[in-house]
Amino acid sequence: MPGAKNSVLKLMAATLLAPGTSTLTNVPDIEDVTIMSELLRRLGCVVAHAGSSITIEVPERPDHRADYDLVRKMRASICVLGPLIARCGAADVAVPGGDNIGSRGLDMHVEGLRKMGVHVDNEHGYLLAECEALTGASVFLDFPSVGATETILMAAVTARGQSVIENAAREPEIIDICSMLVSMGADISGIGSSSLVINGVSDLKPTKHRVVSDRIVAGTWAVAAVMTQGDITIHGVPHEHLALPLEKLELTGARIEREGASIRIQMQGRPQCVDVVTLPYPGFPTDLQPQFIALNAMGLGAALVTENLFEARFRFVQELARLGADVRTDGHHALIRGRESLSGAPVEATDIRAGAGLVLAGLVANGSTTVYGVTHIDRGYAGFVETLQGLGAQIQRVDD
Ligand code: EPU
Repeated sequence: MPGAKNSVLKLMAATLLAPGTSTLTNVPDIEDVTIMSELLRRLGCVVAHAGSSITIEVPERPDHRADYDLVRKMRASICVLGPLIARCGAADVAVPGGDNIGSRGLDMHVEGLRKMGVHVDNEHGYLLAECEALTGASVFLDFPSVGATETILMAAVTARGQSVIENAAREPEIIDICSMLVSMGADISGIGSSSLVINGVSDLKPTKHRVVSDRIVAGTWAVAAVMTQGDITIHGVPHEHLALPLEKLELTGARIEREGASIRIQMQGRPQCVDVVTLPYPGFPTDLQPQFIALNAMGLGAALVTENLFEARFRFVQELARLGADVRTDGHHALIRGRESLSGAPVEATDIRAGAGLVLAGLVANGSTTVYGVTHIDRGYAGFVETLQGLGAQIQRVDD
């Protein structure tokens, strides 16, 4: 299983914390990695790709500006904010704005940095952050935000004194960045818990690190197997990272075998609909919500799906309705009544996971489905079409 998009981008940013050459392995071949490579180059790094490895040579004095043209292409560019303040004492990072899944605030990132002595202004579309000396602080997050945990963590590792992040995110991708930072010389305890304690060290050294497997990509293939009544084995992903989604798939009637880092999914017959409530890890991941809505759309019975993270993530159900799905939304709830069959139609992907959900629905819909906007899928899935073809799906990529 390739490395996780939502880890590798932050690990690439974290290399900025140490001058010299760091290496990442198990790097997925996805568009967002290309954008992050370009951003690091503009900051003065030399980035080289070789197969699934990437080396990043970080200069003694990196530049500290992340321009809007890249940030608007990839919201995750904001993850350079923490490392740049730590290394340069300043960061000018374009404000990403909203996107197709919601408004996505940055207040917790900014508040955490302010507590550490950073002066932050928002001018002409840029966050202008500056500080004389980063000082450790105690930060209690309102919500276990993945991005805010990462920003504060990366600022704290070389700050003066101790920092504590309470109500920190606990996603496997957070554990991944903590282990990489520790291998660079950082002093972090409480890794994997909601309370991270960081004792600042004077400097960090470059490292070599393998990116954690992408649990969302693995989960997408697992849902595809259930929807298409398949029998697949996914290698190289710890099943613990998908504990709740796999339990949900068992409730649909699938047989799941968990063995070490392999997961076998077998399904016969139409799946039962299953309720889902998205929550921070170890709750159900919002990044698998559209795929489960697609599954419910062709399931037996009905299900209620509740989205608690991104208010606009239900936008894609209007596209799913074009395939004949019976979905009603009310605020952050969606009621899906399963249909015996969906019918192929042209649809538009609005974000990565919506795109994946629409393709899965297209696999089981009668006739042919054309999904436009596949560049969204390319941002997060390496070889999406080829993998599905390898599993027997009738799918082709066509140039629009
Ligand atoms: N939020 C705030 N203020 C903040 C930070 C977050 O209000 O300062 C809110 C957001 O608006 C959102 C919620 O908190 O409603 C969760 O946001 P979080 O910070 O946890 O998410 P993120 O860091 O922006 C990452 C992933 C998302 C994934 C979420 C949740 C990356 C690049 N993105 O986003 O991935 O859905 O965590 O797990 O790591 C995707 O891959 O398709 C994707 C959207």
